[in-house]
Amino acid sequence: MAFSKTLKVLLVGGVSLAGLTFGATTIASAAGGGGTGDYEMVHKHWHFKGMGGTYDRAAAQRGYQVYREVCSSCHALEQLAFRHLGDKGAPFYNEDYKNPNENPLIKAFAADWTIEDIDADTGDVLERPGITADKFPPIYPNDAAARAGNGGALPPDLSTIVAARNGGADYLYNLLIAYDAKKPDDVTLTPGLYYNPVMDGGKIAMASPLSDGIIEYAPMEVYEDGEIKTVAAPEATVEQMAADVTEFLAWSSDPKLEQRKQAGFATMLYLLILSVLLWFSYKRVWKNVKH
Ligand code: HEC
Repeated sequence: MAFSKTLKVLLVGGVSLAGLTFGATTIASAAGGGGTGDYEMVHKHWHFKGMGGTYDRAAAQRGYQVYREVCSSCHALEQLAFRHLGDKGAPFYNEDYKNPNENPLIKAFAADWTIEDIDADTGDVLERPGITADKFPPIYPNDAAARAGNGGALPPDLSTIVAARNGGADYLYNLLIAYDAKKPDDVTLTPGLYYNPVMDGGKIAMASPLSDGIIEYAPMEVYEDGEIKTVAAPEATVEQMAADVTEFLAWSSDPKLEQRKQAGFATMLYLLILSVLLWFSYKRVWKNVKH
């Protein structure tokens, strides 16, 4: 009796687990941005994928420029503070300024933004240039204002967008380059909506934010292997800007990726050495014992 009860519980558990897994995969593939029409998703090789993956710092730096000059007119990045841009593993890290609050570049980035603050003496709202400790400011005062400025649609905060969307970096990259795809006849657009095959249903309320040459890249100074290297500026094509802003937003979604991968590697090495030592001590302890 007890046995058959256990069996039943196991069976029910197993079936519901299978159901859950199946359900989750179905949802994942539905929201995975498979592409409507005949759009073929482009799968790029991202530098940060794989075991020893690191961010391509020059690309992420250019990506910040794309965010600042294009996306930031609508999208916020509220989970980041300016100083995060100069942390270890971040796009603008420089070993001469281990404390990012002292990094002149990070100070200049912060000062380039206007921050709303309260005057400590009068209580009045005032505006001042940002400092490194500030978070990136909201772009709109509230969601209603954001919707009003975007034909009723809400531009999401981009801080963790790469982690939040199925398909991650590939999803974002394709979303930005897919606007040119030919619209199938069965997708009808109302005013304020644009065809984008990467979105579910093929419709998005964001007009294509990128076009060739919309910004001009400057050469980037990148800290790598103990020295500063200058990386020449590429042409600002749609694909280039899309890849760069994706690299930057992949970093903002997972700023500790490099440290985590390094720690993982060190742990594996430690366990390996420990196993070898244990093997030899086992051999030694049992040396004179017949077994
Ligand atoms: C003029 C305003 C505007 C600009 C500039 C803009 N966006 Fe958007 N974005 C929007 C709006 C509005 C939405 C919401 C679209 C919707 O819900 O259909 C959106 C949605 C998105 C989404 C979410 C798509 C999804 O899966 O739901 C991403 C990602 C995104 N934008 C990235 C960017 C990036 C990267 C840039 C800069 C290269 C950018 N946007 C520039 C207005 C803008």
